[in-house]
Amino acid sequence: MPRFEVAEDLSDKIKNLSRARQSLIEEMEAIMFYDERADATTDKNLKEIIIHNRDDEKEHFSLLLEYLRRNDTELNKEMKEILFSKKELKELGD
Ligand SMILES: [Fe+2]
Repeated sequence: MPRFEVAEDLSDKIKNLSRARQSLIEEMEAIMFYDERADATTDKNLKEIIIHNRDDEKEHFSLLLEYLRRNDTELNKEMKEILFSKKELKELGD
């Protein structure tokens, strides 16, 4: 799973974070694929199936994001500050 270093040099914590982050990327990619397919198909029944599948991927994405939030202290801090804020986006971040 490591992309930039050899596995033997990495802790279990970093390996698991890498696994979760790669899975998060793959779930978002699946959402993009399904979104485009749902938009492109002219078959109403197929569109409904694809939309259902796409929304399942959003659940998977959210579960992984929550795992990362619980296991990455700095990410948790940033998410607490930014997610669900009522501020304008330009007012968030440093
Ligand atoms: Fe998934």
